[in-house]
Parts: sequence; C-alpha cells; structure tokens
Amino acid sequence: MGKIAVVGSLNMDVSYRVAHIPAPGETILAQGVAKNPGGKGGNQAVAAAKMGAGVSMIGLTGDDADGEALRRSLAGAGVDTAFVGRCGEPTGTAFICVSDAGENNIVVHAGANACVDARALAEADACLRAAEMCVVQLEIPHETAWQALRRCRELGVFTVLNPSPACPVPDSVLRGLDLLVPNETEMEALLPGALDLDALPGYAREKGVRRILMTLGDKGCCLATAEGVRRFPCTPVRAVDTTGAGDTFLGALCAMLAEGRALEEAIAIAQRAAAWAVARPGAQQAMPCRENIL
Ligand code: RIB
Repeated sequence: MGKIAVVGSLNMDVSYRVAHIPAPGETILAQGVAKNPGGKGGNQAVAAAKMGAGVSMIGLTGDDADGEALRRSLAGAGVDTAFVGRCGEPTGTAFICVSDAGENNIVVHAGANACVDARALAEADACLRAAEMCVVQLEIPHETAWQALRRCRELGVFTVLNPSPACPVPDSVLRGLDLLVPNETEMEALLPGALDLDALPGYAREKGVRRILMTLGDKGCCLATAEGVRRFPCTPVRAVDTTGAGDTFLGALCAMLAEGRALEEAIAIAQRAAAWAVARPGAQQAMPCRENIL
C-alpha cells in the first residue's frame, strides 16, 4: 500500500478538439476526438506515482470496459488499485472540449463515482491507516469526502483537499486541514466576494487551515498561512491542452512532500510538472515521469 492514499473520482474522458469553446446554443464541428483516462482522483494518483511516490487509489468504477481501461492506466503508472472497487453504475465519464488556445470546459457524469460511500471508505480503512498523506477532491459524494478527511485527521495522516469542483466546505472539515489547494474559482466558493490574496491569511487563521496553496493558472500560485502570503510565479508555456494541469501540479506536489522535500522546493517541481503536462494532449498520458523533470 502506498504512502499516499487518493480518495476520489475515476472518469473516462472523451475530449473533442475544437477551434473555440462553443457558446450557449452554438453547434460546432470538432477537428478530432479522443478517449483518455481521467477523473481528478485518478489523475492526481497517476501524477504522484509517475513522480515516484507509492500511491493507493480508493474509488469505484463500473463493471465495464471503461473501468478496466482506467484500472490499466492507474496500474501502468504504478498506482496500487487494490481499493478500486466495481459497482452496478457505469464508470464515470467526462465530456471535454479543448480549444486551439488549449483552454477547456468539462461536463462530468459521476456514474460509479456517486457510489463512493461510507461503506466503500470503511472497506478501505486499512489503506487510510497505512497512509502518511491522504488527498481528496470533490467529484465523489461530499459526505464521503468529509468523512475521509475526518478519519485521516483522527489517524494523524497529513490531509490535502482539492475543493474541486467548486463548492462550500464545512468549517468542521477545514479546521485542522494540513493543505487546501483551490484554484481561483474554488477559492471564491469558499471565501465569497472579490478575491483578495491579502485576505487569505485571515481566512486561514479563522478557519484553522494550516496552508492554502491557491493555483493561479499561468500566473503561478500563492501560498497563504496564518502568517502571510507568498507568490510563486511560473514560466509561461504554450498550452496545447490544460486538462488535468491542476491535477498534475497537485499530484507532483504531494509526491515531493511525501519524500520529505520542503514545500517551496515541492512547489517549484510541481510547476515544472504542470508545464510539461499542458504542452501535451490529454490528462494522465500527458503527465511527466520523474526523470523528465528532475
Ligand atoms: O481535472 C481534470 C479532470 O476533470 C478530467 O480528467 C475530467 O475527468 C474531470 O474530472
């Protein structure tokens, strides 16, 4: 079992290459279509494993061909899939448009991910007990996500929450969280109003979150603790496909933290990993291996 347990979603991504992201009511023709393994949970697990971390995935697929393909992708990257179960719902899917500018929009059908419940979590308790770090996102039922984080806090496991897709998070879940990694939209769902980086330390203090690492797209990221904020700009790259860029960043970051690197160094390496991924199409297959960036 891995040092890092990822509790989250597994989706088969169907990505359409389009000239631009269609507006409401607009029909456009795609220049190409590809089916690739994805899902925020699976992506983060693969990103961490490709960087050399021992990773276990906790999640569900359907009993179908997409589920098998997702298992193969996880296992191919070295992720332990012993806690990836099967259920009666179809495997989760994501419908993705990727524009010539490398931007995307995504619609997810949860499918089997919606069945990741208290029982599934209890069945994976041995995995959580063996972990040193637990990474959770929000494409599974929120109650299960909160429960996973509470259980890990009880166990003394380092907790990481990527609050994506954006939604409010209960104060009881935020209190004591080791690392919160939102993007700007997700941060706005937590702290409504105009986004002000200088307000983040106050928010961290008030909610009892130890560290907030907010990603800022091609502007890099910023780290907020109760004491203050620090910005980490990144070198701009020509984006081919930004699908899974945040997942690559987070997975690589966790892998580097799990091997004992300082947060600042882990951030720099995670930024290189994300830059590598956005220059290539797809999510999991675009992620770098350790030797590509270290
Ligand atoms: O973060 C990117 C992921 O979001 C995609 O792989 C898609 O499956 C959705 O979950």
